Amino acid sequence: MSPTANGRFWRWYAKVYDLIWDSTLTAALCERAFGDLPTRRTAVDLGCGTGLTSRPLTDAGCEVVGVDLSADMLAIAERSGRVARTMLGDAASTGLPPHAFDIVVACNLLHLHPDPNAVLAEMSRLAAPGGAIVCSWPSNRASLTGTFVREVRSGRPVMDAGRALALRTAVGIGGLLTRARLHPSGVVDAAVSQWARACGATRVAWQEVMSSAVVAVFRTMPMPQPLGRATAPS
Ligand SMILES: C[S@@+](CC[C@H](N)C(=O)[O-])C[C@H]1O[C@@H](n2cnc3c(N)ncnc32)[C@H](O)[C@@H]1O
Repeated sequence: MSPTANGRFWRWYAKVYDLIWDSTLTAALCERAFGDLPTRRTAVDLGCGTGLTSRPLTDAGCEVVGVDLSADMLAIAERSGRVARTMLGDAASTGLPPHAFDIVVACNLLHLHPDPNAVLAEMSRLAAPGGAIVCSWPSNRASLTGTFVREVRSGRPVMDAGRALALRTAVGIGGLLTRARLHPSGVVDAAVSQWARACGATRVAWQEVMSSAVVAVFRTMPMPQPLGRATAPS
């Protein structure tokens, strides 16, 4: 499939992205991904999309750089104030300075990227010593109807979840036609495990969220005090 067709897919997807993914599933994913992170200042979100996964970091006071290959996605991320700065480019070769970010994120990108190993290597390159590296990708139990049911059970209004189901179906068909999705979950699981072993990253968490997504958190050095849990000196 040509890059143009693929570009058109992401342009269209940007228009409906938040209607689908500004959801209880994404909220649960972000809670697992970022809930226990220590206080940090700088973050880069690779494949940031509209910035839904950058938003909790920005809200917590981080300065987030959002990197994405789609200008339409980045425009929404910037307009919504979910990122401080945007960069149009490939997640595997950002050209950003090495070891410059306290948190490096790639949520729902590795299964789409032609070379997930190259993205993981770039994440290691960008992470500051003692930094956190956070990835998520669809789990092998993810399904359209399963996600709908679990979102409704977790409090998403039925009409809202139903519209998201219809749009996810349309996006799935568009993704198949443009070959947007490249790797099954098992391939990403293996790539992330192998990368962590090879670079000695410490696994902090590896959890499934609402039977739909896997969230993995790593650190490059022992973590300091978690956010909001510091005790006042006596
Ligand atoms: C499924 S969305 C995930 C967005 C966001 N991280 C989230 O979880 O809500 C995938 C994003 O990756 C972007 N993307 C695809 N290939 C990319 C690449 N090679 N480099 C950077 N971004 C890419 C797409 O434009 C899209 O915004």
